[in-house]
Amino acid sequence: MTAILPGAPWLIAHRSMLRINKPYKVALNGQDYVLWQNQQGEIFALDNVCPHMQAPLSDGWICQERGTIACPFHALEFDGQGRMYQSDKVGNQPLTNPLELIIKDDCIWTYGGYVPKIPVPNLISKVSEGMSFVGVAGEKSIGGTFLDNLSINYDYNHQSGTHRDLFGIKANRIPVFEQDGYWAKVVQELDREDSTWNDILRNPVILTAPKTYTGILEYAFPALTTFRTSFLLGEILQVHVLYPETENQTKTFVLVYSKPKHPVILPLLRRSMLSAVTTVVEQDTRAIETSYPRQRAKIRLPNEEIMFHAQKLYHDW
Ligand code: FES
Ligand SMILES: [Fe+2]
Repeated sequence: MTAILPGAPWLIAHRSMLRINKPYKVALNGQDYVLWQNQQGEIFALDNVCPHMQAPLSDGWICQERGTIACPFHALEFDGQGRMYQSDKVGNQPLTNPLELIIKDDCIWTYGGYVPKIPVPNLISKVSEGMSFVGVAGEKSIGGTFLDNLSINYDYNHQSGTHRDLFGIKANRIPVFEQDGYWAKVVQELDREDSTWNDILRNPVILTAPKTYTGILEYAFPALTTFRTSFLLGEILQVHVLYPETENQTKTFVLVYSKPKHPVILPLLRRSMLSAVTTVVEQDTRAIETSYPRQRAKIRLPNEEIMFHAQKLYHDW
């Protein structure tokens, strides 16, 4: 495939998604890689194709003592630089290519072998300052193009349809839209419908939700959409991550951070925060996977210029 947005920095995983000494497979721009983290917290990434008979290394296992990955087919071992390890010796040439990683705040970034065109963004450290990391939610491979997945993150009308049962939106205002290159900021105000008893029984967390939400969104095109909002018990930050696996498959996951008014309630809120985020991702996924191929729209809704702005960055890359 031709690479999507070559030279863009992609956030391919958060450290917490890698279990110690367990291979983790990543597909990026049509290439498969295997990642693993050792006990010391060092992270390695190699081309997933075994140079012997092309088995997927991610189906293999990690040999702790030697810090190697063993191929599932004939058990040949490779170190984190892709050199073969045999009879207590490591070869001097890599036989499978290592993938260059940049690790920042426990986030694992890569350019997928392309020459960097823009720097790894500082957005996560900036927006999560003073907050605690809660976990990762909504890890999913979505059947849809990168552009369709990107667009929904800049689409300020889809809450009324896609997320109607979660939020019950009555009114939606965008008082702020600022942009500067690949960065953008949007402030969104949403008025909720009154919750019915049914809603409350189904989702008691709704009681803690204010009548009007103010969401502050900041974007680092193309990888990140951050969404910060306050609720009765504190503040929550979602970092929605996207990267292209192939032309028609897009990976997403959401890093969740929180600043509760009382730290003791963080563990109590953890589950409901992560499951609410998972629901949001599932609803977006359904919207993308069930839509017919895109054509020129015959109708325009308000605030769509925000989405057009992102689409323009994509096409002008
Ligand atoms: S295919 Fe990997 S060791 Fe043979
Ligand atoms: Fe959405």
